Amino acid sequence: MTDCSHYVVFTIKKNLTAEHVDRFVDRTAEVREQAVESIAGYRNMMVSDVVHGPRSFNVNEWATRQTYIALGNFMTSAAMLGVDTCPMEGIEPNKYDKVLGLHDKGFATVVACAAGYRSADDKYADLKKVRFPKAEMIETL
Ligand SMILES: Cc1cc2nc3c(=O)[nH]c(=O)nc-3n(C[C@H](O)[C@H](O)[C@H](O)COP(=O)(O)O)c2cc1C
Repeated sequence: MTDCSHYVVFTIKKNLTAEHVDRFVDRTAEVREQAVESIAGYRNMMVSDVVHGPRSFNVNEWATRQTYIALGNFMTSAAMLGVDTCPMEGIEPNKYDKVLGLHDKGFATVVACAAGYRSADDKYADLKKVRFPKAEMIETL
């Protein structure tokens, strides 16, 4: 990770509140040039689900899973640009939080990903990819 071009740390905002939902709703209304009131139903649905509903009991776990959607998109997009990535969950999240000062901001580290053009002397770069057979992994109904 000290050699890579870019090193991205994916984090969650811990313990989402109605204020966080409102920030998102305000931003949606701004970008789409619509009245906040016109998406009140959407806002209330999110608050009742994420803040007060069953999801609120494991909201940080839910948020953690969401970061893998971003990570997957990041890696695919990089690959399409010919940029290699190395996703890492085998890290020490608490130490990242400390170094990045995330505790005080209410964020927590989930996963990190290095990105960059591969080194000419990377002995792993041209190794065959190890994957289970497609037929074993994908079920077509
Ligand atoms: C510090 C470090 C932590 C890693 N942590 C994980 C991990 O938690 N899960 C994982 O699947 N791979 C982890 N990796 C491995 C790679 O990111 C990647 O999965 C591996 O190169 C295999 O990818 P490939 O089959 O596409 O080549 C880690 C690598 C490093 C250097």
